[in-house]
Amino acid sequence: MTLIILFLFAYLLGSVPSGIWIGKVFYQKDIREFGSGNSGTTNTFRVLGFKAGVTVLCMDILKGTLATLLPVLFHLSVNPLYFGIAAILGHTFPIFANFKGGKAVATSAGMLLAYNPLFFVYSAAIFAIILFVTSTVSLASMVSAVLITLSTVFLPVIWPQILPEHDWVLTVLAILVTLFIIVRHRENIQRIRQGTENRVPFGLNKSK
Ligand code: G3P
Repeated sequence: MTLIILFLFAYLLGSVPSGIWIGKVFYQKDIREFGSGNSGTTNTFRVLGFKAGVTVLCMDILKGTLATLLPVLFHLSVNPLYFGIAAILGHTFPIFANFKGGKAVATSAGMLLAYNPLFFVYSAAIFAIILFVTSTVSLASMVSAVLITLSTVFLPVIWPQILPEHDWVLTVLAILVTLFIIVRHRENIQRIRQGTENRVPFGLNKSK
């Protein structure tokens, strides 16, 4: 019973639509009506600016982290990653926003932070490098998701200081989350192919 309640709580935590609420409360703007129309961190930066973007980024990461830590806090013998997945589902299909949410990136990062902070830093570095090279958040999100998934297999062999041992649950969930992230970015993929995808104002291919 505790397990089901906590799992639902993790979903509800993920469901908190940070970008939408911050926009409505502090800026009287619904970010879904501007920019890419997405309710996530990137569109918050785009529509509401740096301060709101950083706030929503932290909140969306925190949702994944807190949810993943729930079974640890309650001393339950269940893999914490499943609770991170519940938060990712909440973030993507939020009950508080008509089940239309973000693209699963920041909350997945939050799950990694709870799982292994060093691996989170490694993953964030990969994302930052790809973002710098492409200046495109959507592309950086998808490519880094693939590379992070591959890293769950190779890091324990080549850099065990970051990820000491193979965790096949992590690898399988990373594969599923990566596929999910790619599906959630299908409109971005179309725009990338047409050369019309939004770019950030920094990096090697920055917007003009
Ligand atoms: O995390 C979402 C990001 O990868 C793309 O966001 O607003 O450009 O569709 P957006």
